[in-house]
Amino acid sequence: MKIEAFAPGKVILFGEHSVVHKRPAIAVAINKGVDVLLTTRDDNIIKVEVPSINYSQESELINKRLDFELDSQNKMITDYIYEVINLFEFEQGFNLNVDIRMYLGAGLGSSAAVTVSCMKALSILAGVEMNKKTIAKQARNIEIKIQGAASPIDTSMSTYGGIIYIDENFELERIKFDMDLQLIVSNCQISGNTGKLVESVRQKYVKYPEIVENIFNAMQEIAKNAKDALENGNSELIGDLMNLNQGLLDSIGVNTVELSDMVYLSRKYGAKGSKLTGSGGGGCIIAFCPENIDTIYEELSKKYATFKCEQSDEGVYAKIIEN
Ligand code: PMV
Repeated sequence: MKIEAFAPGKVILFGEHSVVHKRPAIAVAINKGVDVLLTTRDDNIIKVEVPSINYSQESELINKRLDFELDSQNKMITDYIYEVINLFEFEQGFNLNVDIRMYLGAGLGSSAAVTVSCMKALSILAGVEMNKKTIAKQARNIEIKIQGAASPIDTSMSTYGGIIYIDENFELERIKFDMDLQLIVSNCQISGNTGKLVESVRQKYVKYPEIVENIFNAMQEIAKNAKDALENGNSELIGDLMNLNQGLLDSIGVNTVELSDMVYLSRKYGAKGSKLTGSGGGGCIIAFCPENIDTIYEELSKKYATFKCEQSDEGVYAKIIEN
């Protein structure tokens, strides 16, 4: 049996960090993500391959299960894969090839895309029916187990695709937006550590509760206004709100010199709005470029790894290509 699966990554347009403290956020699934190819074997060996990090490992199935202990120190991308494998029982071994077609550890949701695509493919092989709601929930549980804290953003985007508004109760609402968003992503190629950054924001909240509460409230207003701006196609407002959000993210300490450089460079060449995306501390910015997209792309590309980012309306999917 051969199964193929794909799950998209995401960019957060509004509300990273404040979402962890129950404020709304908006994210967009992107056309870069993770492809999985699962091929059954005649023995009881499970071979996991992740070519982009030169990883290849064989392990033995014992009583239909893999004996995997999470090493909480390292938080490797492969931990997510083994946690997914551990959800199921298997009658036979398999080769699992995980092709990560996106930047790793850069705020684009690579770990969620790995978790969700593997879960979809492996659930089919194990004969376990999993709808999207179950996949998103189980995938988030794995993120929480490995990372400590995680909002449902990344795993929801990889599962459902599209542009999604997550409200303060973590309920998801699809935003209707028919145009191409004209986004550029630039990566400073320094990785931020999501767990540590989330913790540093929490500590600021404990130290300056009133101030940080007000910052989160402002982020909440931005996300709410942004939902309307997107639905009404109001580019001017979308851009302004992104810039406001960037200033607030800077104020809670998750911005860096490199991120600022990319933000100001994109604005200099005509981006209507630009901000860091994801946990910050490195990683990527997104620039909203309804005009001048080619010039902004060229200028950012001179200094940083950059791509024009199309949205992915589809979430995770799988197909059996050989039975
Ligand atoms: O850097 P990423 O892609 O893992 O995004 C993290 C977003 C945060 O809001 C900072 C954390 C979360 O779990 O929502």
